[in-house]
Amino acid sequence: MGPGVERVLAHLAARLGSSDDSNPELGTAEVPVTEMDWLAAMMRFTPDILAWHAGRGIPEAVSHATMADFGRNMSINRRVHNRFGMDTYKWLNHAFSGRIYQLGRLQYLIHQPAAQIPGVADGEWILGIHIPEGGGFGEAAVAESLALASGFFAEYFADRPVRTANCESWLLDPYLAAHIDAGSNIAKFAALFTPYGAPRDEPTDAVYFTFRTRSMENLSELPRATALQRIVLERIDAGGAWQLGFGSLVLPGQASGRPARHGEKAPSVLR
Ligand SMILES: CC(C)(COP(=O)(O)OP(=O)(O)OC[C@H]1O[C@@H](n2cnc3c(N)ncnc32)[C@H](O)[C@@H]1OP(=O)(O)O)[C@@H](O)C(=O)NCCC(=O)NCCS
Repeated sequence: MGPGVERVLAHLAARLGSSDDSNPELGTAEVPVTEMDWLAAMMRFTPDILAWHAGRGIPEAVSHATMADFGRNMSINRRVHNRFGMDTYKWLNHAFSGRIYQLGRLQYLIHQPAAQIPGVADGEWILGIHIPEGGGFGEAAVAESLALASGFFAEYFADRPVRTANCESWLLDPYLAAHIDAGSNIAKFAALFTPYGAPRDEPTDAVYFTFRTRSMENLSELPRATALQRIVLERIDAGGAWQLGFGSLVLPGQASGRPARHGEKAPSVLR
């Protein structure tokens, strides 16, 4: 095992179970740390994260669904760059440190937000919602996932009570809601959230998630076959920039305004 892999392994071991989601540069001039070092270290570390999940009593099905993000990202990497690799290794830190879980259709990152969110106290734990690509993004799948999340975190992270979820995404860019069919899955998902803060320019996200390219060159060559593809490109053609929108929602069963307590009845289709 090379020194780069050893460095990443030490980093992953130190971060396991930690809420620290900073991404320090691990490489130095003497010991460079490459994308391949990250990839190799994450594969070697998989038994450790699975054992950590098991130690918390997390059902194996959730553990496997969560760590499947590794393979998903590897296959996306091949689509994006046409080669073996993992340009999203920093993102995968969330999975390898036990902070993110896939529950039904969505992924949930348990964290303490750095910026103020209306209705969320300083230091309060919340769930960051992430949307992996794939089908089944209809209203029912999203509702089922939210209900699962509420129950899952109350049961397995009782020490970090949550009642709010937030989402920071190009899918919540107000421009998208104004231009996509109101009956679409994307519009219905965005409508679940109460917006907060001012949207922030993030011009590449919409292009990356719609077309899986990191390049902003030659956009005119990209397909315009679907409504979303047309909306994304037409905005850029008109000189506009895509943004990140911010929104929050109260998790199901949490409307009373207090976090769920350990042992409270919650949906349990996880086992
Ligand atoms: C979010 C996502 C699951 C929504 O897919 P969906 O359920 O098909 O969305 P909708 O049904 O609302 O789609 C509305 C229109 O956009 C199109 N569309 C949706 N996602 C698309 C995508 N990734 N690429 C191209 N077209 C897409 C649909 O085909 C449809 O167009 P049509 O009416 O011409 O057929 C999908 O866009 C996706 O996998 N995105 C990548 C992950 C992502 O963006 N995560 C958020 C990161 S912050």
